[in-house]
Amino acid sequence: MSELKVENVSYRYKNSSRKALSEVSCAFQAGTVTSVVGPSGSGKTTLLSILAGLDRPEEGKVLLNGQDLAGKDLDAYRREDVSVIFQAFQLFPLLTVIENVCYPMELNGIAKAEAQKRARVLLARMDISEEKWKRYPANLSGGEQQRVAIARSLATGAGILLADEPTGNLDGQNTTNVMEILTRLAHEDGYCVIIVTHDPAIAEASDYVYRMADGVLAKAG
Ligand SMILES: Nc1ncnc2c1ncn2[C@@H]1O[C@H](COP(=O)(O)OP(=O)(O)O)[C@@H](O)[C@H]1O
Ligand SMILES: [Mg+2]
Repeated sequence: MSELKVENVSYRYKNSSRKALSEVSCAFQAGTVTSVVGPSGSGKTTLLSILAGLDRPEEGKVLLNGQDLAGKDLDAYRREDVSVIFQAFQLFPLLTVIENVCYPMELNGIAKAEAQKRARVLLARMDISEEKWKRYPANLSGGEQQRVAIARSLATGAGILLADEPTGNLDGQNTTNVMEILTRLAHEDGYCVIIVTHDPAIAEASDYVYRMADGVLAKAG
C-alpha cells in the first residue's frame, strides 16, 4: 500500500517566466482513484512528471509514504515505486505483447521464466486472450493496446499508478473499460491511482477530483 503527498510544490520550466505549478498541495491515497482535471496547458503533465520522479520540484516536497523524495534516488523510485501509462500507450513496437510486459521485469532483474509466468497472469487479468500474446502492438485495437500497457505497468509491482490522459485515444466503450480496470486495481488491490485528464467523464468515475487551472490545484465540488 502506497500513498503520495505533495506539499506546496512549485515548478517553473527553464527559460519560462511563469510557474507551471504554483504551491500545489494534495494527498493521493492507496485504494483510491484520484483525477486531476483541467484544460490543456494548465500544468497536469508537469504535475504528473514530478509525481513520476522525472523531475524534482523547484520548491516544496513530494512524499512517498511520508518519506521525502528529495532524499531518495529517483532512478530507483521510478523503477520500483511508480509506473506510468500514457495516452499514446507507448508500447515498444518491435516487441510482442508478452515481451512488452516482460521487459520492465527483466530490467528489474527478474529471471525470464518468472517474468513470462507473471506476464501471462497479468495479460489474462486484463482480458487479453492468449492468441494475442505473440502479436505486435500494431495488430491490436487501441483498447487492447491500453490494456497491455496497464499489464506492463503492473509488472514491476509498483503501488502507485500514474496515468496521463489514458483514455485520450479511446472511444466511449473503451474509456469505460479502462476506468473500470483502474477502479478495480484501486479498490480491490489497493493501488494508488492518479489520473490527469481534460475529460470530465473520467472525473465522474473517480473517487476524488481536483481541478487544475494555471498551475493552481483546487479540490472540486
Ligand atoms: N518543456 C517545457 N518547457 C517550457 N514550458 C513548458 C514545457 N512543458 C510544458 N510547458 C508549459 O507549462 C505549462 C503547463 O504545461 P503542461 O503541464 O504540459 O499542461 P497540460 O498537461 O495540462 O496540458 C504550459 O504553459 C506549457 O506551455
Ligand atoms: Mg498534458
